[in-house]
Amino acid sequence: MAANGGAGNDMKGKTVLVTGATNGIGKVAARTLASLGARVVIVGRDPAKTAEVAREIGADSYLVADLSVMSEVRRAAAEFRDREPRLDVLLNNAGAVVGRRQETPEGVEMTWALNHLNYFLLTQELLPPLQAAPGARVVNVSSSVHTSGRMRWDDLEFRRGYSAIGAYSQSKLANVLFTRELSRRLSGSGVSANALHPGFVRTGFGHNNGGLMSRVIGLMSTFALSDEQGAQTSLYLASSPEVQGVSGRYFDRQQEAKPAPQALDDAAAARLWSVSEEYVNRAEGSRTI
Ligand SMILES: NC(=O)c1ccc[n+]([C@@H]2O[C@H](COP(=O)([O-])OP(=O)(O)OC[C@H]3O[C@@H](n4cnc5c(N)ncnc54)[C@H](OP(=O)(O)O)[C@@H]3O)[C@@H](O)[C@H]2O)c1
Repeated sequence: MAANGGAGNDMKGKTVLVTGATNGIGKVAARTLASLGARVVIVGRDPAKTAEVAREIGADSYLVADLSVMSEVRRAAAEFRDREPRLDVLLNNAGAVVGRRQETPEGVEMTWALNHLNYFLLTQELLPPLQAAPGARVVNVSSSVHTSGRMRWDDLEFRRGYSAIGAYSQSKLANVLFTRELSRRLSGSGVSANALHPGFVRTGFGHNNGGLMSRVIGLMSTFALSDEQGAQTSLYLASSPEVQGVSGRYFDRQQEAKPAPQALDDAAAARLWSVSEEYVNRAEGSRTI
């Protein structure tokens, strides 16, 4: 186990894309990867904030997209592909807990769209530049909350009895199942995929939607990790030589950990993949592996 996720790892010559890099653990991860020599591209939803953060952390460039909207995910990925021939690390990190049920402009429940479909589609759309980079890595930020998640196959968008924690834990379970199936499909391609729990971290997380969830997170945050500490497992998976070629696993505190039994269900992982394809393929002309 590395004592410090990114410390000492050389990222010179590598191109990295980080989502949710305008705040919290994504911002620390992006800044650290830039300081290790990577060419960092960040994705943010607010143009002024994203430009400002890109300057502040020494990112090479930035893309603006609301990642809960699949047409914007596609556009951002196309802009990336137009500019960059290869992608060494994709850090899927943007996520939120959504206090009251909301739908995106495309009519999809917000937690499902942002926390899961965004990871799924962005990864698909960036496979050509990932496959062009030797030993490329996809790093998916999940949460230990996935252990209380279950897939509500008959109501993935929580149309009945919305619960912020239910929707969130389902989406974080989906992150681990997605990683498992992605890794299986990418076997032999040279691209690895791993998921992680960052720890309970004092970030902007859970504060943007009001309600009981914000208050509970506020009370618990005295015990939380700093965002520097919370970024360490993402940095470890993005940059450590120790995990080169390791794929389909789940990490916590820079160590492989056992995910919940429902996250090891291959049939559920395959089912999630086809359901997710149906969601993202509602827009014409898309293609998945
Ligand atoms: N904090 C924890 O204790 C904890 C624990 C387990 C897992 N996680 C996971 O860690 C990841 C990062 O969370 P964090 O704690 O760093 O939270 P955060 O401080 O709230 O940062 C979330 C990031 O996601 C971005 N984002 C939110 N909605 C977006 C959208 N529609 N389109 C594009 N970007 C969007 C935010 O952009 P803005 O700056 O514009 O808001 C921000 O950059 C999430 O996947 C979360 O599930 C966190």
